[in-house]
Amino acid sequence: MTNKRIAEVRNKLRDLNLDALLVTSPVNRRYLSGFTGTAGALLITLSNNWLITDFRYMTQAPLEAADFTVVEHGLKLMETVKELALSAGIVRLAFEQEHVVFSDYSVWKALLGGIQLVPESGIVEELRLIKDEAELAVMRNAAVLADITYNHILSFIKPGVSERDVALEMEMFMRRNGASSTSFETIVASGERSALPHGVASDRIIGRDEFVKLDFGAYYEGYCSDITRTVVVGTPTDKHREIYEIVLEAQLTALAGIKPGMTGREADALARDVIARHGYGECFGHGTGHGLGMEIHESPRLSKTGEIVLKPGMTVTVEPGIYIPGFGGVRIEDDIVITEDGNTLLTSSPKELRVLG
Ligand code: GLY
Ligand code: MN
Repeated sequence: MTNKRIAEVRNKLRDLNLDALLVTSPVNRRYLSGFTGTAGALLITLSNNWLITDFRYMTQAPLEAADFTVVEHGLKLMETVKELALSAGIVRLAFEQEHVVFSDYSVWKALLGGIQLVPESGIVEELRLIKDEAELAVMRNAAVLADITYNHILSFIKPGVSERDVALEMEMFMRRNGASSTSFETIVASGERSALPHGVASDRIIGRDEFVKLDFGAYYEGYCSDITRTVVVGTPTDKHREIYEIVLEAQLTALAGIKPGMTGREADALARDVIARHGYGECFGHGTGHGLGMEIHESPRLSKTGEIVLKPGMTVTVEPGIYIPGFGGVRIEDDIVITEDGNTLLTSSPKELRVLG
């Protein structure tokens, strides 16, 4: 599998008339090599795969990155890159311009002398857009972790408990069940705070007759899940029910309609049009979804600016919401994979309005 990814990188190098790609993004480094360490770079030429890292990883790296020749660098990683590049006759060396800070670039340019640094974008990210079966299997497990965490936390949420304690309990549960961490900072937003789209858990004590919005995910074997459910603690008012039902209708409409061949913008409109038709268009100010994989937010975007055409194997979230400052907000989010004729859910927690305690 890793070989196939490298072969695709080589095809792109040939198409772009490049001699090699220097991979410095940690996520792309792991995707191509399997190496999970926190430092190092890949140098992929038309005939060599090198992983250049430091002393700390000289036992781990060869075990994880079996398709790569592991090279230990001395004080400066780029000096070793230069030696290897010169030994391989590299002239046009591509680098990931989105993953290099300007000061590093300046140092590299001075150091590399006659080797030409060519800025490139998205060579690896484009490969990552389409998940293979092994990736989907891991993502299904990450999604199951999110689902069982939601089921677990329902009995924990009650008036008098703080948002922070709810978040902590969810995070411990995910870790105990195999997550290496959360995929982002856990959102628990209750009462008026539920109108904050990204209201990370605070010290607020959950009260009665209010929304609690839970948005969280498990980071599992290098992949993320991302789910949102909104519940009511106590007795829902008509207003709670009204906005919940609109968001649910928008989410179900999008899930029913998203299929390959559609742009991210068209997918976004499926949910957005429902919310606008009910008069709440101004209260839905973010995109309907985003790509999900090794990173919590990746391409393609389901938003007003989403140009990428959806294809089978892409994994995205579907997460419309309505946020009313001073009252509260609702978001409902699932993770899906685009299939040949539509999409299937990765997350599968129930979505009818859940009333607790
Ligand atoms: N669930 C967090 C986010 O999508 O930004
Ligand atoms: Mn999300």
